[in-house]
Amino acid sequence: MDDKVCVVTGAAMGLGNVMARAFIESGASKLAILDLSAEKATAAADEAQRWFEDAYGGGGGAELDIVGVQCDVADEASVAAAMDDVHKRFGRIDVCVNSAGVVENFPAETYSTARMKWLYDINLNGSMYVAREAAKHMFADGNQGSIILVASMSGSIVNLPQPQAPYNASKAAVKHLASCLAVEWATRGVRVNSLSPGYMLTSLTRVMTETSSEGKKLREAWEAKTPMGRMGEPDDLKGAAVYLASDASRFTTGTDLIVDGGYCCP
Ligand SMILES: NC(=O)c1ccc[n+]([C@@H]2O[C@H](COP(=O)([O-])OP(=O)(O)OC[C@H]3O[C@@H](n4cnc5c(N)ncnc54)[C@H](O)[C@@H]3O)[C@@H](O)[C@H]2O)c1
Repeated sequence: MDDKVCVVTGAAMGLGNVMARAFIESGASKLAILDLSAEKATAAADEAQRWFEDAYGGGGGAELDIVGVQCDVADEASVAAAMDDVHKRFGRIDVCVNSAGVVENFPAETYSTARMKWLYDINLNGSMYVAREAAKHMFADGNQGSIILVASMSGSIVNLPQPQAPYNASKAAVKHLASCLAVEWATRGVRVNSLSPGYMLTSLTRVMTETSSEGKKLREAWEAKTPMGRMGEPDDLKGAAVYLASDASRFTTGTDLIVDGGYCCP
């Protein structure tokens, strides 16, 4: 990842934040953290800079430049503006991860249309806007780019017991979107893959598992269905993210990499 310019959406916290740090640990020196709130994105960038200096003593003098940028992935103008900002600051974009995403649990028969459209706008349309705007810069610069769309194992299986049909459908679509873009851009130097986590311990799942006794039962049910018997730690995604982002995966495009402790196997 040496010298690669990386952009990660939804990176103020959660999996995006961990993947962004993994890129820095692997040698990337220029990183843009994109998130809904400018304050949170900037705070996360400052925090990542401090973390790197504490953990690695500043990398033996390596120049590290981390910036926080406001971006709503559901708004194409916001995505285009954020990518332009990043490109102006760093001169190119080599790696772009779309980790921004939301989940909600409602039975399908009572799922409101407004909430469903909100979710698709972020999870699916946002993936397209982010990939499209990053790819435009990669094509214009003629660089070898890697785009990673964070999907979910929910794009391959139906989760139980919580009802979340639109989320699962959005993630199945994200997976296929990644394959379609990969084929369209295969000869133009830009690779596109999806990364599909299983149940991971982040704020997205903690709101479900830590706020009630039903939530605790939910976690137990998920762990019982996971062959490795536990939820994933965000760090468990680092290797997969670095693999897909780096030249280690230079002949890999259009694939979906599932990191789920074996959940999808049985
Ligand atoms: N945590 C899991 O178990 C799990 C499992 C499978 C897939 N995923 C996927 O991984 C991705 C990250 O999930 P997470 O667990 O880190 O979630 P999280 O809630 O911890 O973090 C999500 C981040 O995305 C940001 N975000 C939300 N909407 C946004 C928007 N419109 N524009 C820009 N940023 C926005 C939030 O502010 C937040 O910083 C999501 O796409 C999610 O669907 C998570």
